[in-house]
Amino acid sequence: MPNYARPPYRIKMVEPISLITKEERIERLKEAGYNPFRLKSEDVYIDLLTDSGTGAMSHFQWAALMQGDEAYAGSRSFYRLEKVVKNITGYKYIMPAHQGRGAEQVVIPELVKKPNMYFISNIHFDTTRAHVEIAGARAIDCVVEECFDTETYYPFKGNFDVPKLIEIINEKGAENIAGIILTITNNSAGGQPVSMENMKEVTMVARANRIPILIDGARYAENSYFIKLREDGYQNKSVREIARETFDLADIFLMSAKKDGLVNIGGLIAIKDDEDFFKQCQINIVPKEGFPTYGGLAGRDMDALAVGLEEALDESYLAYRIDEIRYLGDLLRAGGVPIQYPTGGHAVFVDCGKIVPHIPYDQFPAQAVSNALYIEGGIRPVEIGSLLLGRDPDTKENIKADKEFMRLTIPRRTYTFEHLHYVAECLINVYNNRDKIKGLKFTYESPILRHFTAEFEPIE
Ligand code: F0G
Repeated sequence: MPNYARPPYRIKMVEPISLITKEERIERLKEAGYNPFRLKSEDVYIDLLTDSGTGAMSHFQWAALMQGDEAYAGSRSFYRLEKVVKNITGYKYIMPAHQGRGAEQVVIPELVKKPNMYFISNIHFDTTRAHVEIAGARAIDCVVEECFDTETYYPFKGNFDVPKLIEIINEKGAENIAGIILTITNNSAGGQPVSMENMKEVTMVARANRIPILIDGARYAENSYFIKLREDGYQNKSVREIARETFDLADIFLMSAKKDGLVNIGGLIAIKDDEDFFKQCQINIVPKEGFPTYGGLAGRDMDALAVGLEEALDESYLAYRIDEIRYLGDLLRAGGVPIQYPTGGHAVFVDCGKIVPHIPYDQFPAQAVSNALYIEGGIRPVEIGSLLLGRDPDTKENIKADKEFMRLTIPRRTYTFEHLHYVAECLINVYNNRDKIKGLKFTYESPILRHFTAEFEPIE
């Protein structure tokens, strides 16, 4: 396969997986209430639910685990991690958190200084939005229109719509904007990157209005790699330099380290230079996550993360990582399956609104296709559409998503091109039999975050 990057590692340890029979898959899915979240992992052959904490660690990381210093305060592991994060970001103050949402619950409330404030992001990730709302503020998404045109090539579909951003700030008043969040890559848009030019424009607007700038950088290394690949003037810069240029633009970095930290659990808070703000967060982290030098992590987790952060900036790793997604996307497109194109950083987003137009949004087209793919091949995707969006808090009506996406999320360093080839074959079979796929109705629906626990039955 000359067009795709070669794997920069070999396999040293294996975890057996097996495919249960089709009859068993039909039965297990029924028992799971037609919701892949409720399946047992052992009943899944290829698990594409998420890339979060599901990747493989390197032998360097496993070796680093053994050096964990489990001191409650001032652990050596913390200082090793702090050194790496300072070196990558250039930021002065670092605290670990147990994962991304742990970092969010510490920092976001500290920025909400009064009632009726807003955060603006290209697209808030669900937990970020939840923490904004829990803190009493509201979340506004402000992504470019190109994001919703899945078929046309556009290199940076994750970008902010800058004129709209200015409009929102003028309408709400700069003093009411608690922060601008650069979500890189833009997960909900399909792992789509944000260009450096766009981030610079956004930060100029933020600076002119004295609004704090946050990076939600779960996949910042993948974003930096896309800038190198796709943006003029960056071909000869290293990913590390591009990442540094990105961090220079912002004030605060929040990270779910379960992605580009290459660990199974972990998160980070980094603050550029505001000592008072850091002290406020230090007070807040103790009751929520833990003492500021462990933040909910074991010492050994911090050591694994210190190594993983460096490995995720390795360009041969990133080239292969991004090409795994591109390879799966190319196979699917060749088979006629509609996807968000070009593919982004961590997943192929399949446009199920186009696959099953006979299923209305409130019968959850992408959930129905996900179930069909599980039955076809034991593959577990995740719905990113109207099921995830939930109901309008006032009218209680189902909210209609802009796109009914099914996300095929690729864990890091875990599956081979053969696995991905199998996924493509199965999904193309599903696509060729799409007329038979039926919509779903609830048999159980929880009032919040319903997608995790909901149960359904197919509408005959
Ligand atoms: N921000 C982004 C952009 C994310 O994608 C996630 C998690 C978080 C914050 C929260 O981090 O899970 O460590 O608490 N995304 C996962 C996903 C869950 O499947 O996309 P967390």
